[in-house]
Amino acid sequence: MPRIYLETFGCQMNELDSELVSGQLRAAGHSFTDRWTEADVVLYNTCSVREVAENKAWSRIGKVGLHKKQHNPDLVLGVIGCMAERDGRDITAKHPQVDLVCGPADLDKVPMLIDGVLRDREARYAIREYGRKPRPAGEPTSRGGTGRAEVGEPAEDPLERVDLARPAAPQSVTSAGSPASAYVRITRGCNKKCTYCVVPNTRGPEVHRPPAHILGECRKLVDSGVREITLLGQTVNHYHYDDAIRVTVGGIDQPQVGATISPNAGNGGPLPTFNATTTSFAGLLAMIHDELPSLRRLRFVTSLPRDFGDDILRVIADRPRICRYLHLPVQSGSDRILKLMNRGYRVADYDDLLRRVRHFLPDAELATDIITGFPTETEEDHRKTVDLIRRAGFKNSFIFKYSPRPGTVAIDRFADDVPLEVKKRRNAELLAAQAEASAAVHARYVGRTLQVQVEGVSRRTRKQRNAAAPGSAGVQLAWEAPEETVQLSGRTDTDLIVMFDGPEDLAGQTVDVAIGRSAPLALFGRLVGTPILN
Ligand code: 5AD
Repeated sequence: MPRIYLETFGCQMNELDSELVSGQLRAAGHSFTDRWTEADVVLYNTCSVREVAENKAWSRIGKVGLHKKQHNPDLVLGVIGCMAERDGRDITAKHPQVDLVCGPADLDKVPMLIDGVLRDREARYAIREYGRKPRPAGEPTSRGGTGRAEVGEPAEDPLERVDLARPAAPQSVTSAGSPASAYVRITRGCNKKCTYCVVPNTRGPEVHRPPAHILGECRKLVDSGVREITLLGQTVNHYHYDDAIRVTVGGIDQPQVGATISPNAGNGGPLPTFNATTTSFAGLLAMIHDELPSLRRLRFVTSLPRDFGDDILRVIADRPRICRYLHLPVQSGSDRILKLMNRGYRVADYDDLLRRVRHFLPDAELATDIITGFPTETEEDHRKTVDLIRRAGFKNSFIFKYSPRPGTVAIDRFADDVPLEVKKRRNAELLAAQAEASAAVHARYVGRTLQVQVEGVSRRTRKQRNAAAPGSAGVQLAWEAPEETVQLSGRTDTDLIVMFDGPEDLAGQTVDVAIGRSAPLALFGRLVGTPILN
């Protein structure tokens, strides 16, 4: 059987996709290698949200393509994920060494595509061309629907089978980065029309998975030792599933096409009017928490600040094992820019959400995403974003310089008119404001003892090991045996990063750490008491 090398770029959604693709390939009898030079099949699971991740992937594809041309013509080179969906056949036109192109909505077909290429060496494609041309009503889309977002529309989604076929026992280190953590998808695709964002064109329209499938998957993971689950969706707070209009195809309940939730939802206004048969996001969180008492932590990403109702905050407040951490991407502190981004909320709405979060969850920590240098952004717009960072108290912000992405509305509608130098300066100013805010957040924890879910050895330890590894040119440090004490890292339920010394086999356990020192991005402490064993 051919050996596979699979490398992932981009978001957590991609990490999960790679885990599921690997599961399918393992089930089909393939083995994996960590070195692309030893592989018969090299797959890149790509991301097109930002230019940086994309450029990295292109450079890898170019390098492996050249190697294939010069040394190993039998190598199968595949591009999967969002770049594959967006560029489709253009990829093989530009890089003729690529022989497999598969978008995120077709990942169930990867094993079959590999077999096809191995059989006749002809390139294989599985792409949807979402949004490339307007689809006439009634013409089937990728997922068998009509292309219009109608609630509860029957849609056979082959990806549902892939999620359901996930192996019970997680790999020693899952896509979520720790032996005891796992991702579970609740929603695929996205219906929002943020003008800068390529996701609706690469992952297609939003569909919500049946709650019974999500709960079943979480239960299977918990039974096999997972203690922390992160629910994934582009907009998790829009999750809803109406059991009354459930459609079953081939014995499998199908995901339901999403609709824009009532405009009254969230923002402190009346809650969405769901009927009794609908599971909302709040209901889903409550159900998973209550049905799975041995799940230690339930997390979720990402939420759209619009429509984040008090119902969700109440459910979290009442349930100790739902994490006090919210990732609420604001993108800009200027109403004018938010409008051009088509985010659907104003800065005052976001401030109101922050106030409601602090009210219901006084001990929660928040993080955000910001795009700097969006077209037409003025110094005044930028100041407003800096001010927002100063008042919001985020524990950290992911700050990105705007890059026009092919396939988005913004690339056609607006000139990328903020010069790179200006973007860089604004980026640095935002980072400086956030560093101050982060330092203040972290300093509050010094002197306290926090419960930490251990992820594994810290980056420092990993670097020292790499430097000490045989054959490396680095300084020869002593190789630390696993039973010795090394620097470990883990997270609090509020998602703060904590570093402390301890034995390596604590990975996956929950421990108490007394915090002695803080830095802008992490806390440092010492292990106290005995770990809570699984
Ligand atoms: N340019 C820069 N940043 C972007 N993001 C999404 N699209 C772009 C773009 N075109 C950022 C947003 C989003 C995060 C995942 O990536 O901040 O929340």
